[in-house]
Order: sequence, then structure tokens, then C-alpha cells
Amino acid sequence: MDALVVENLNKIYSNGRGIREINLNVQKGKIHALLGNNGAGKSTTMKCITGIIFPDSGRIEVMGKELRDNDPKVKSCVGYSPELPSLPRNLTGRQCLVVYGYLKGLSKDQVRLESEDLLEKVGLLEASDSRVSQYSRGMLQRLDLAIALEGGPDILILDEPTAGLDPSSASKFRALLRERAAEGQTILLSDHQLSEVERLCSDATIINEGRTIIQSKMSDLLKKVKGSFKYVGEFSSVSDKLIHDIEKIDGVVHVDIDHKGGNTLTIYTDRRDQLNSEISGIAKEIGCSLYSMTESKTTLEDIFLALVNTEE
Ligand SMILES: Nc1ncnc2c1ncn2[C@@H]1O[C@H](COP(=O)(O)OP(=O)(O)O)[C@@H](O)[C@H]1O
Ligand SMILES: [Mg+2]
Repeated sequence: MDALVVENLNKIYSNGRGIREINLNVQKGKIHALLGNNGAGKSTTMKCITGIIFPDSGRIEVMGKELRDNDPKVKSCVGYSPELPSLPRNLTGRQCLVVYGYLKGLSKDQVRLESEDLLEKVGLLEASDSRVSQYSRGMLQRLDLAIALEGGPDILILDEPTAGLDPSSASKFRALLRERAAEGQTILLSDHQLSEVERLCSDATIINEGRTIIQSKMSDLLKKVKGSFKYVGEFSSVSDKLIHDIEKIDGVVHVDIDHKGGNTLTIYTDRRDQLNSEISGIAKEIGCSLYSMTESKTTLEDIFLALVNTEE
């Protein structure tokens, strides 16, 4: 079942920027990544889903119900952590959870129990009675996440949730998301740490300049992209001519030079075979040798760059 459906969503700001025809389907219980460069339209899409701004046109369905007319019942299905948290600075962390818990319609006992648990989970128990004005950026981010999780909403919309976190807090947070997804919560998140996204998310939607360019299971993404096999070749020396000649081989999409120095080339191809003999022949012709050729795993980052660069 799709917990979240976004169809042909348009929102153009007065400066002419925004999103055009965004499409997105998030299955229940999945962790789905919304990826794109800065300015691609991730935050605008998320704000439309959470009802913070109104789209110009398009359809949003949350847990099988249309998100229209600001219906509080539909909105309460969604927990949101914005890109830039803005919390009441005079309250303590614990007080914030109480206030937001009541706003979400939770009972006093529920709020008390859940606050304690969430403060512990996001590592803010010790600082829970300090005012928000004394929190660091990472602490604010963690409090914001606790608020988003409060009340166990069906869908969590998290806009760059780990951007301000140190690596160990980010890792704990990702573990918490995995737990929540296993319990049936649905998560849509944006994150620029593509190696982490690749491990955490089962599906991804990539947007560019306000438009959806691909939506896919993470495992299928690699197969959908031209040049999705990647080999690293080590040579006695590398030259522009060598790169140029390798790029002319049938099936080779792109060749990257190792900018850190060294005589290594990364070769992106559509072909599964390693092209060893062809490449070693080309190297010989121009007076150098191929020492080794190893297959390297294509990463989400490779795919992202290939897709976004093709568009530009
Ligand atoms: N409040 C706003 N007013 C005008 N333009 C905006 C506003 N918010 C975002 N934009 C523009 O809309 C586009 C999408 O922005 P945004 O959704 O914030 O992208 P992302 O979150 O992917 O970085 C960008 O070109 C951005 O400059
Ligand atoms: Mg953003």
C-alpha cells in the first residue's frame, strides 16, 4: 500500500522558482529518500506534504486520504522535522515535547511517558531541563526529531535530519529510523550523505530543477542507468590520449582520472565484461601498460551524478 502519493505537484514562488510536476509514491513501512541538489525542490515538496504551504496544483494523498482543506485528521498522520528547526527558545527541551504533544492531541500520561523515552533515544535526557536557547545546533536538530517522532505518526517527513549531527548521533538516529520503519512507520527523508542513504533507504526519488527525474527501488537504480558498471584500471602511466582512446571503446560511457595523482582510471561502461584485452591493447599501442583491472561497486553517488549531470 502507498502511504503517501504525490501526483503532478506544482508550486511556483513569486520569483518563478519552485517545483513542477513532482511525482512520488512511498510505500507503507519503507524508508524512501528524496534526493536532489540544493534548490532542486526537496523542501518545497516536503512543505506541501506537511501542509505548511499550499501547492498551486497537483494531488497529495496521505494514508489513503486526500490532503485538502487543511484537514487536521490527515495532517496529524504526518510528523515533520524541517530543514531549519525553529523551536520556542524560552522553553526547556522537555517543555517543548509537552507543548507539541498536547498540540498533537496526546494525553498527559502519554506525553510524559513518551517524552522521557524520546529524550533518552535522541540523547537529550541530561539536557532536557535546559532552555532551548542554550542548545547547540545538533541538540536543536535532535529535539526537533524527537518532536517529529512524538505520537508515533504514520508518516515521518524529515528534511535533512542528520545535517547538524555528529557521526555517532547520526548513526544512532539512523538506527532509530530503521526500528520505526520495522514497526510500520513510513519515512520520507532528504539527506546528502548518499553512502548512508544507500544503506538506509529501500527506495529513492531523484529530483532535479523542480522535476522528478527517476523513482525506483534502490536495488534497481543501478540497472536503470547507462554506464552502471565501474572498473578501476591501474596503468604504468596515464595520458589524455589513453583516456580518449578508452572512451572510444564500444560501451564505455565515461572515463575519470584519479585527481589525487597516481596512474589510475575509473571506467564506467554498459558492458559486464572487463574489457581487459581491449584496454591493455590500447595501452600498449601508446607505449604504456595496464597493470590491473578491478571491478568496483557502483554507488548511489555515481548514479546520482550520472543522472543529474545528464539532465544538465
Ligand atoms: N520561500 C521561497 N520564495 C522564493 N523562492 C523559493 C522559496 N523557497 C524556495 N525557493 C526556490 O525554490 C526552489 C526549490 O527550493 P527548495 O525546495 O528549498 O530546494 P531544496 O530543498 O531541494 O534545496 C529553489 O530555486 C529555491 O530558490
Ligand atoms: Mg531544502
